[in-house]
Amino acid sequence: MDYVINENFYYKNNELFCEEISIKDIAKKVGTPFYVYSKKAIEEKIKAYRDAFSSYNTLICYAAKANPNLSILKIFEKADFGCDIVSGGELYKARKAGIPAKKIVYAGVGKTDFEIEFALRENILSFNVESEMELDVLDELARKNEKKARVSIRINPNVDPKTHPYISTGLRESKFGIDIDKALDICKKAVSLKNIEVIGIHCHIGSQIMEISPYMEAVEKTADMVFKLKKEGIELQYFDIGGGLGIRYKPEDNPPTPEDLAKGILPIVSSTGLKLILEPGRSLVGEAGALITQVIFTKDKGDKHFIIVDSGMNDLLRPAMYNAYHHIVSLDKKDKKVVADIVGPICETGDFFALDREIDDVQRKDYLAIMSAGAYGSSMSSNYNVRPRAAEVLVDGSKFYVIRERESYAYLTKLEEDVFKEI
Ligand code: LLP
Repeated sequence: MDYVINENFYYKNNELFCEEISIKDIAKKVGTPFYVYSKKAIEEKIKAYRDAFSSYNTLICYAAKANPNLSILKIFEKADFGCDIVSGGELYKARKAGIPAKKIVYAGVGKTDFEIEFALRENILSFNVESEMELDVLDELARKNEKKARVSIRINPNVDPKTHPYISTGLRESKFGIDIDKALDICKKAVSLKNIEVIGIHCHIGSQIMEISPYMEAVEKTADMVFKLKKEGIELQYFDIGGGLGIRYKPEDNPPTPEDLAKGILPIVSSTGLKLILEPGRSLVGEAGALITQVIFTKDKGDKHFIIVDSGMNDLLRPAMYNAYHHIVSLDKKDKKVVADIVGPICETGDFFALDREIDDVQRKDYLAIMSAGAYGSSMSSNYNVRPRAAEVLVDGSKFYVIRERESYAYLTKLEEDVFKEI
């Protein structure tokens, strides 16, 4: 079979299918651009994580930032997953999707008072605390709200995850977490605070990690901390290792599987006896999604060939922001190839999906699929150039559902109209 990235996207009679539907049929009904997600692909990853960690007491908290669409969150709720959040908005959506507060962990270096009080009222499982000041504020707000805040201390293990610098979070110079050499004192202090209950330790070293060794290094350092705390009489319940497992962006990529991760870290985590928390985002939804776009024009300029599409960096920011590679294929397979820059309509030179890429020789009105866009695609999209956000579609076997409508122009001006009249 002629698979693209994984077996849920494949060519049949030279047409690209998602599960049992020709994506072009969806495009004709929904219009472009749109994100298409394979439910089966997500469920396969859910199963892979479940199976890999079934031998150990583990709570898997889906990182909502990867794709917080309510219907996607609902898939994780149905699978009994928890949720890793980073804002009040994500908390609101996770709760709306029915994810129990007792399975929600909340990271982030800048939680506002409003967000903290919201999470306290909801009674979430854990605030993953990233600084001493946050700890003090949390204690104070918990007292005010007559609550006890459960916290995990996020340590920064100073490990290089060998990924893009913008998505490395566990190095000493990054803004995340508490330096490992200060963590012991801060944990001791946390234990002494009246409205704080220290339940765990947390680390997250980065994203799109393609090797298991950085995880092992970080988990070993964190386990050391657990033993040091034990010596001080501080008993924890949870060992949260964050997310970060990489996915396939190029067909030849070979990312580690949840099973590889389990094999690497479970021996270390189990030596502490703590319950494990995982926070995967990209590896659950990334390969399950593609951004579908239509060619508006082609253009030859100097010795360059441009394919200009109806989707832009406002829909998928990753190539512009990280120079990220996304595999791009045509919905109708063609024999003839060209080398082209595939660009969007936005007034920025950075508005590209691929540069000097060999690709099918597509023409005006042909469609392209930008693969591995299920994570950090729609969730990082914007309205730049007053472009409505793309629709989102979930495929389930031979059926498809629009799980986010395309934004309309009226929707885009709604929040400005009343104020405008008053001035
Ligand atoms: N936990 C924490 C505390 C995180 O900060 C993140 C991601 C995750 C879990 C989930 O990581 P994942 O399993 O998805 O790698 N926009 C970037 C990725 C930023 C990741 C931020 N934190 C990108 O498009 O590559």
